[in-house]
Amino acid sequence: MPTNKLTSRIAIVGVGDVGAAAVFALILSSVCGQILLVDTKEAFRDGQVLDLSDATHRGNSSTHVRAGTYQEAGQCDIVVITAGAKQKPGESRLQLIGRNIGILGSVISGMKPFKQDTILLLVANPVDVLTTFAQEISGLPKAQVIGSGTFLDSIRLRGHLAEKAEVAASSIDAYVLGEHGDSQFVAWSIATIGGVPIDKALPAGTFDRRELAESVKSTAQKIIEAKGATSYGIGSVVASICSSILFDKHNVRPISHWQQDHDCCLSLPVVLGRKGVVRNLPLPLDDEETKLLHESAKDLREVIDGARK
Ligand code: NAD
Ligand code: LAC
Repeated sequence: MPTNKLTSRIAIVGVGDVGAAAVFALILSSVCGQILLVDTKEAFRDGQVLDLSDATHRGNSSTHVRAGTYQEAGQCDIVVITAGAKQKPGESRLQLIGRNIGILGSVISGMKPFKQDTILLLVANPVDVLTTFAQEISGLPKAQVIGSGTFLDSIRLRGHLAEKAEVAASSIDAYVLGEHGDSQFVAWSIATIGGVPIDKALPAGTFDRRELAESVKSTAQKIIEAKGATSYGIGSVVASICSSILFDKHNVRPISHWQQDHDCCLSLPVVLGRKGVVRNLPLPLDDEETKLLHESAKDLREVIDGARK
């Protein structure tokens, strides 16, 4: 059964730019009853509690924001992990692993033992690698430990396609898959606009696929160069994932999850509900896309193996 929104609790571990944007989006979309903020910088965390609480007094919000401990976070319905270092301009997400794997370990050991049906949602980067490790060290069932993955890249793609096609982004089904990072790819063979294959809906010559995919991939770097961090896009993605989980919506979303065939977590579309990954969807990728998926997984496994040494 879906959890009642008035009683469900979400913990945000790491309340910097991304954590705060996620809390703000959760408040505006009334997803849960309580949001617990956890951060090692306590004075800063308390400032975020006061600032974000102001947003709950706007109207008929039923969300209460307060400071929390690791132990309390482990008893929440969803724990969002946004604690960690972020990229400097020119740095890749994978290069963050040395700094963020230690943070992940201390955060998870502080929260254990988890409530049995807690969902762990990884957001800190490199998100696919950290999701893989979080599955190992949390002891939770793999279906309950997921990463935001290429959901953000996919909405960036849909935004571009919506402009080209002059169609609402919500009428576009198009996915960026694989790593949330440099080896990601667009699954053009299954992209549709209102159910019409993209080839027919946007005829050849309307846009350059390679250019558009590059533009999607480089969005984060452009934002980081200009203002130091990305936050609002991922904040809205976190709120959407939490809503799918707490209301057991069974939305299809491209999120990072365990892939037995690839021996790591990466993004393919799944059905998302209160138990986390409810099921996988078999995807008819073409040969080139299948090859790109394997290459993306290989890049991720190299970083995972390196981090184990
Ligand atoms: P930030 O520096 O603004 O915030 C990080 C926060 O984590 C800080 O407040 C810090 O005190 C806290 N923190 C550090 N160690 C902690 C610990 N052990 N326990 C609790 N809190 C701790 O960084 P940000 O811009 O919010 O980015 C956070 C992470 O999210 C980065 O790794 C970034 O790359 C990632 N990110 C991911 C996506 C995505 O799509 N997956 C999008 C944007 C950013
Ligand atoms: C993003 C982060 C940096 O906005 O992963 O894509």
